[in-house]
Amino acid sequence: MSKHTLAAGSRVTVPSLRAMAARGQRIVMVTAYDATFARMLDEGGADILLVGDSLGNVVQGLDTTLPVTLDEMIYHCRAVSRGARRAHLVGDMPFMSYQVSPEKALENAGRFLSQGNMHAVKLEGGVEMAESIRRIVSAGIPVMGHVGLTPQSVHAMGGFKVQGKDEDDADRVLRDARAVAEAGAYALVLEGIPAPLAARIRTQLPIPTIGIGAGPDCDGQVLVCYDMLGLTPERVPKFVKMYDTFYERGLAAMRSYADEVRNGSFPTAAHSFGVAQVAPAAVSGQLTAEASEPVA
Ligand code: KIV
Repeated sequence: MSKHTLAAGSRVTVPSLRAMAARGQRIVMVTAYDATFARMLDEGGADILLVGDSLGNVVQGLDTTLPVTLDEMIYHCRAVSRGARRAHLVGDMPFMSYQVSPEKALENAGRFLSQGNMHAVKLEGGVEMAESIRRIVSAGIPVMGHVGLTPQSVHAMGGFKVQGKDEDDADRVLRDARAVAEAGAYALVLEGIPAPLAARIRTQLPIPTIGIGAGPDCDGQVLVCYDMLGLTPERVPKFVKMYDTFYERGLAAMRSYADEVRNGSFPTAAHSFGVAQVAPAAVSGQLTAEASEPVA
C-alpha cells in the first residue's frame, strides 16, 4: 500500500488532513476541472482536488478569473465529483459570490455542497473576510482560506505580484492569515509570498498551510493541473514545476492522427465493424447498438 493510500473506500476528510499535518505528512493538492482529469489525479495520489476558478484561465481562455460565474463553477464541481473517489473536494468561490455579505456568502457556499457535491469551499481574503468565513463555518461548511497573492484582487494589487515583500506588507499578510484561522477556516492557501514569510506563518497558525509560490515550508503544496502536466508551456511561472509535457505529446498525437486520416492508414480493419455480424435491419440503415457488435 503506497503512503498516500487510505483504507479501501476511505475519503480524505477535514480531520484526516489535520492529522496529516500534525504528523508532518505533506498534503498534496492540485486543481481539477472535469471528471477524466479528476479520476487520473485522484488515482495518482492527490489528497485534495480543488475546482479552482483558475478554470477561467486554463479552460475558458480568460486573462483573469473575474468573469467566472457561480453556475459555471458548480457545473465543473459536479463533473469533478464524478471522477474522484478518494480526494477531499474543494470548490473555489468565484468573484462576487461571497464579497457582498456574509449571508450571501453562506447561501452560495451551500450550493457548492448541495449542488456541486463538494466537501468544502475556498475563498480569497483575510481580515475583511473573517465575518463571512465565520458565518459559513457556523453552518457546518468547511472553509479553506487563501491569502497573499489573491487573483480576484488583481486590479487592487496592480497585477499578479508577489505579496508581503517588505516588513509592513508581510505583517499585513500575517494578520490576514491569523484572521482566517481565528474565523474557523480548516486550512489556508498561501499564494505568491516569500518563502521565509510562509515559514513564519506556518509556525504561528494552528491550521495546515498549503503553498503555491510560497516555498517549501508549508504543510502542503498546490499547483494548477494544466501547469503541472505541461499543458500551458507558453506561460510557466517561476513557482511551477512541469512534471510532463502533455501539450507537446498531445500535439504529436494529433499530428499522427491527422496524417493517418489524410493518408488513409486510419481506420484499419481492426477499428471497423464486419458486415457478417450486422443484423439484417442494419443493412437498410437502421443500425442500433443492440443489433450490432459492441462498440467498446
Ligand atoms: O483557482 C485556483 O486554481 C487557485 C489555486 C491556484 C490555489 O486558487
